[in-house]
Amino acid sequence: MDTDTLKQIQLLLVDDETEFRRTLAKRLLKRGIHSLQAADGETCLTMLSKNPVDVVVMDVMMPGINGIDALFRIKKHHLETEVILLTGNANTQDGVAGIKSGAFDYLTKPVEFDHLLGKIAQAYDKIISDREQKAAKEYKARIEQQMIATERLAALGTLAAGVAHEINNPLAIINESAGYLKTVLQKKEMAEIPHKVAFENALQKIENSVRRARTITHQLLADIGKKEQVLTEIDMAALVTETIRLIRRDAERKGIRVNLAADRDMRTLWSDPNQIRQVLINLLNNAIHATDEDGEITVRLAARGTGAALDIIDSGSGIPKENQDRIFEPFFSTKSPGEGTGLGLFVTRDIVEKFGGTLTVESELGKGSRFSVYIPNQDRFDDGGTGLQS
Ligand SMILES: Nc1ncnc2c1ncn2[C@@H]1O[C@H](COP(=O)(O)OP(=O)(O)OP(=O)(O)O)[C@@H](O)[C@H]1O
Ligand SMILES: [Mg+2]
Repeated sequence: MDTDTLKQIQLLLVDDETEFRRTLAKRLLKRGIHSLQAADGETCLTMLSKNPVDVVVMDVMMPGINGIDALFRIKKHHLETEVILLTGNANTQDGVAGIKSGAFDYLTKPVEFDHLLGKIAQAYDKIISDREQKAAKEYKARIEQQMIATERLAALGTLAAGVAHEINNPLAIINESAGYLKTVLQKKEMAEIPHKVAFENALQKIENSVRRARTITHQLLADIGKKEQVLTEIDMAALVTETIRLIRRDAERKGIRVNLAADRDMRTLWSDPNQIRQVLINLLNNAIHATDEDGEITVRLAARGTGAALDIIDSGSGIPKENQDRIFEPFFSTKSPGEGTGLGLFVTRDIVEKFGGTLTVESELGKGSRFSVYIPNQDRFDDGGTGLQS
């Protein structure tokens, strides 16, 4: 571990032997580590409650609460803090008890300085990697939540579009029939019938209401078409790399390699990063699902004009010819019910087309598939007539 990293470690030394503490602190400082000091377990806990540290190096044998009890309380309140115990030579069982209560490790006194330094560095490494793993997990969960929300919205949209479409047909019939009755009423032989004016008023009310219902269904169809886009300038290679990282574990679990081939010409793109990420995740998830052990997935990123071309190529099962158009339909899925909703590609193509781009597939049964996405650059100042100014 280099000095710059060592300098970042926040360390607390807990030992009732003042001389031992001071000497150790001095030697640690020479290697770049600043340390706080406490003479007993009680002081250590008070200090931690005010100012948590990364690593605690603590003697087991102390007056007042001993090291094992202090360790127990540290682990209860400061999950991230790692504790290294120092035990007397004859008391290694204290160390073993310490490990059981969550100590990072124990060393027997007299302590060999470089050995201790190594342990401190290892404990800090563990803290950093735990933190990174936690952050990655939270990030993945957040993205998944976002995707579920978008897919639900899309499903709702499809349903609403269907309903709107179906309602328009009977509305047209009602409207036509009302119009027909109106013309009948205007005929000469109908001039003297009783309640004629009341009939005419009733027909007018029917026509007005049909018009209102139509406006509502049209509005519904128009609303479904809108999805909020947040445009920013995206470093495409970074976005793709980061997205691959999200699914890499799922791929590795199946023994699938994921490669990225990024064209150097591809730099930045004005678009919505969340939606592009979703496009990529949907396509990658499908590719992982279709590919077996020892398979390979390649993501190609290249500049095309001012836009970006993304190819997701897998060596998986391939798609039969007769399904190659149907896979983009909502709810088309060959997966078992709990495994797929059949909305992935529908939503993906919808997103891409709203950017004015394209999503196409080439596939050969038993050999694999290639999904090709083209996303044009969304000029920051030109909304391209889509009403989607950033
Ligand atoms: N890379 C691929 N290789 C082989 N078949 C694929 C691939 N991508 C999609 N498919 C086929 O297309 C179908 C539809 O895909 P789509 O992503 O729309 O839905 P899904 O993956 O079944 O469910 P989900 O809604 O969870 O994405 C899949 O069920 C699968 O049969
Ligand atoms: Mg899918």
